[in-house]
Amino acid sequence: MTAESTRTLADEIAKLWAGRDLDEFTSAAAKYLTTGSATDWGMATSIQSIVPPITLGGGIPDPTTLPRASLAEALARAVDTDALDDSPLRYGGPEGYEPLRSLLAERYTRDRGFKVGPEYFLLTNGSAGAIDQICSAFITPGDVIITEAPTFSGTLRTFRGHSAEIVPIGMDENGMLVDDLEPLIETLKAQGKRVKLIYTISNFHNPMGVTLSLARREEMIRVAARHGAFVLDDDAYGELYFPGWDRPPALSALSECHGVITVGTFSKIIATGLRVGWIHATPEVLDRVTRVRFEMGNSPLLQKMLFEFCKDGNLDRHIQSMRKVYLAKLDTLCDALRDHCEPYVKFRRPHGGFFLWVELQGGLDGREVQQAAIAEGLIAAAGYGFFPDRVDSGDHMRLAFSWVGQDDLVEAAKRLASACAKVAERSARP
Ligand SMILES: Cc1ncc(COP(=O)(O)O)c(C=O)c1O
Repeated sequence: MTAESTRTLADEIAKLWAGRDLDEFTSAAAKYLTTGSATDWGMATSIQSIVPPITLGGGIPDPTTLPRASLAEALARAVDTDALDDSPLRYGGPEGYEPLRSLLAERYTRDRGFKVGPEYFLLTNGSAGAIDQICSAFITPGDVIITEAPTFSGTLRTFRGHSAEIVPIGMDENGMLVDDLEPLIETLKAQGKRVKLIYTISNFHNPMGVTLSLARREEMIRVAARHGAFVLDDDAYGELYFPGWDRPPALSALSECHGVITVGTFSKIIATGLRVGWIHATPEVLDRVTRVRFEMGNSPLLQKMLFEFCKDGNLDRHIQSMRKVYLAKLDTLCDALRDHCEPYVKFRRPHGGFFLWVELQGGLDGREVQQAAIAEGLIAAAGYGFFPDRVDSGDHMRLAFSWVGQDDLVEAAKRLASACAKVAERSARP
């Protein structure tokens, strides 16, 4: 075929497609989820600041902590196999690289007190991919998923994409209001609805930073088991507790995984770009997930690289140093907010994780402060984006302190203070 005849064919095909409406091809989920992304903080993009913006937006590890050299060495070890051993570069199967699953099992057994083996783990495309696959395996359109309000907006998109009905439940400083759970499930059942999942972020919640208390953990798994609903514990931040924190037992250990599905990730403890996470659940539950793994599993090469990186206690050492980094950042941000943002903000220090949930004072509106902050050169999430109905009656901002440097955290507090002052001044005008 000559270049000219290829051009003619392409023109002919382009004409045939030109009049067609892509929406007629689009799936219900893609039609429904027309805007936003997994991290939709509800920001107007038309506002510009005159100074380079500081972003306290996403839950992303500090770029200066990325273990680039060790990961590169681990990758070199991962590909360095005998000529006939192509396993790191061949299809790996739906469960994922066994040594990495065994390493996770050893850490869970050691740290969480319930003895498990690799058959309790399945490797996924991050924890977001894990949640998507859990929905593929267990959610039929119309099933109810009870979610904390507020919660991680990315997961709400996933649930919506699977046509689940999202029913919110409130939160306080001890996590989900578990006393409300049973009455809520009973009301839903009386309406003929099927509650399939109860979604919780039990440790260092996104966006609130709080941790579910032991008493509520026990009650949650009891109520869920009585009503035949799975608890889906999104434990993205659980490893990132600050020194001295006595962490409550994991939902998976309290239940010995009966009725509890946990998702975890290397995103927050190492790097989000790895896109490797896991599902921790009984082998029976994981079997249902492997049945719907139509994408043939994730990269065996990356999984082997991670194993090479994590082994011999290296992951433990890395996480230990990360805990100190994030504690220092949180200290800086809290001090700076006290120095610059009073009386506009109130907050409770979390014991780990990446987020500070700030309650705006004096009737300041979260959306207005967010917009004013953008103009001042500060990008941060307003609270309403984390509520299923996008209404935040408390008016909050979520400040992610993980990604930016110490100096920027101080400057961010100053910019937030000017934004609050401007909104307060505007509101005070007659
Ligand atoms: C609570 C929570 N779950 C899941 C995710 C997704 O993480 P991953 O990179 O593992 O898909 C995030 C990312 O911000 C998160 O905050």
